[in-house]
Amino acid sequence: MGDLQTLVDNFQLPDTIGFGRLMAPVMFRAEYCDGIWSAGQLVPYGPISLDPAAKVLHYAQEVFEGMKAYWVDSETPQLFRPVENCKRFNNSAEFMCMPQVPEELFMSGVTQLTDICRNLIPRNSGASMYLRPFMFGTQADLTITASSSYEFYVIASPAEIYHAGEMRVIVERHRSRTAAGGMGVAKTGGNYAASMQSSKECMQQGYNQVLWLNSAVAGQIDELSGMNLFVVMDDELHTPELNGSILPGITRSAILELAKDLGYKVRERNIQIDSLLALIESGTCTEAFACGTAAVISPISIIADQGKEYPLPKVPGPVGQALYESLLAIQEGRVEDKYGWIQAVERQVQV
Ligand code: COI
Repeated sequence: MGDLQTLVDNFQLPDTIGFGRLMAPVMFRAEYCDGIWSAGQLVPYGPISLDPAAKVLHYAQEVFEGMKAYWVDSETPQLFRPVENCKRFNNSAEFMCMPQVPEELFMSGVTQLTDICRNLIPRNSGASMYLRPFMFGTQADLTITASSSYEFYVIASPAEIYHAGEMRVIVERHRSRTAAGGMGVAKTGGNYAASMQSSKECMQQGYNQVLWLNSAVAGQIDELSGMNLFVVMDDELHTPELNGSILPGITRSAILELAKDLGYKVRERNIQIDSLLALIESGTCTEAFACGTAAVISPISIIADQGKEYPLPKVPGPVGQALYESLLAIQEGRVEDKYGWIQAVERQVQV
């Protein structure tokens, strides 16, 4: 363990961190073979060796999670709702015909890595250490059947908020990212790969997020490429219901609870894009924001559709801003966590 701690101790955080580019020098790794998981261990961060015929490379048998360790105003680093990430990870795994990762193994990876890397967690408000647990099929076999062997990793990335600043969103009217009954509910690479061509075109047009519509119900809003959507109308908060095509966001569900406690009415419902745009135009919809682990809560300044722009009048809007401050205050340890969302990471690794 001493060598791993030395790797961490010698690691210098640069002045500019950004999101997702800087990797901690230690990772957690476990293997699954013949129906059994190894105990898993911390190892130096580095390339993974794979057979070129590994299932993941051909049939994308892979799932992942996104979660954060915060250390701003708390005594020790703290994780936000880690068991929810573990549950969602295993739901995604089931969808992709992969084995379950036992909660003890998942949590052991996440807490050991957070513990040893604690001094790499940026201490400024808004920053954190983004944790990325992932699992993939390693069996070398080109038949379209589930892999018999898997690897589970957790890597860590000191990070700023994913998308600081305002979001300019464009509606995707032609492509679908996921089918009804498809893998939109699973956090698997294919969902994100399927969004990339539209994201590239969206950026070429001067926007930075794609808003996806449902493939089965015409005009029904699903979600953004890696985030859920909220809109505010008459001081009520509306978000697309979990319709089987979108990811059940952990930040989304936290916002629904927090909003009720802040006195807002919340509605999970089918939101039609045409009526939303009309409500923005008429001034009834006053704000919109994206939410997710990486993005936290990011205000949307404009929604563009079929050559027309619909600017939101309040950016950031007061409702999104109030929710952002309440959520971050819990995550960063400034207020008491009455929801049981926080898990402290005590010093365990022997150095
Ligand atoms: C997250 O918010 O954790 C996500 O998964 C979004 C992303 C950066 C893919």
